[in-house]
Amino acid sequence: MQLTRAQLEAFDRDGFLVFPELLAQEEIDILLSETERVSRVEADGIFREGDDQQAKSLFRLHEPDGATASPAFRQLARSPRCLGLAQQVLADDALYLHHSKVNMKAAIQGSTWPWHQDFMSWKLDGIERPNMVTVLVMLHEATPINGCLYFIPGSHKLNRLDPYYDTSTAYRLWAADTKTMRKAMALYPEPVSVTGAAGTVAVFHCNLLHASGHNLSPVDRWHAFMCFNTVANHPQPVEDPRPDYVRSTNWNKLVLGDNSQISNAAAG
Ligand code: SIN
Ligand code: MN
Repeated sequence: MQLTRAQLEAFDRDGFLVFPELLAQEEIDILLSETERVSRVEADGIFREGDDQQAKSLFRLHEPDGATASPAFRQLARSPRCLGLAQQVLADDALYLHHSKVNMKAAIQGSTWPWHQDFMSWKLDGIERPNMVTVLVMLHEATPINGCLYFIPGSHKLNRLDPYYDTSTAYRLWAADTKTMRKAMALYPEPVSVTGAAGTVAVFHCNLLHASGHNLSPVDRWHAFMCFNTVANHPQPVEDPRPDYVRSTNWNKLVLGDNSQISNAAAG
């Protein structure tokens, strides 16, 4: 999948691109059943919420080893539709995954992610430059009522803002406070809802302001996130580093796979 010059210019201007239904339903079905399987595992890197402790975030699906390993997600990460996309927008072929995760926003109960830039956290992981992007894969249809993401177009040009540590949900993260967001929202266009059918893919810059709301609907909203960094930009040592499932220390260059490998991973 070769991006056009116009798409690369749009990424530079807006900080994101969206590709409707890039994955086939057959591939999505495999990834959904893998998500279900991994969500039943008890391991570090699985976050739960609510009275019934439903899974909210599953980390480290892309490695060949470990309790949360998934061959199908490993192939998804290396596919031209994830790794290939990231290589083009970062203009670098030597990439690795800082982390992979699935966020399972459950029907009725699934909670919000406050406004943030991913690089708010990743800089504190010891990463110097914002040469990072996330590829988001919708495993279910995403709608405003089921808690789709919102992007603020062009906000990646703000560079990294000063964050506060948000502890309001099961998955704690560095986020932008109200004063910061009021200022940022006065400067940029209205946030856009990142909606689409299952199989839709978006790629977004690590300084893009984004958030998502509560899932008020009766259907689940599960999304996979592959967060790519350039090998050259791997983290420097920090005091008390976050665990490997969220701050990978496997900086080996990922080898591009081909588009048939998600289906093959399920067969094998
Ligand atoms: C994120 O920004 O990291 C996750 C947002 C979501 O899953 O809604
Ligand atoms: Mn994020």
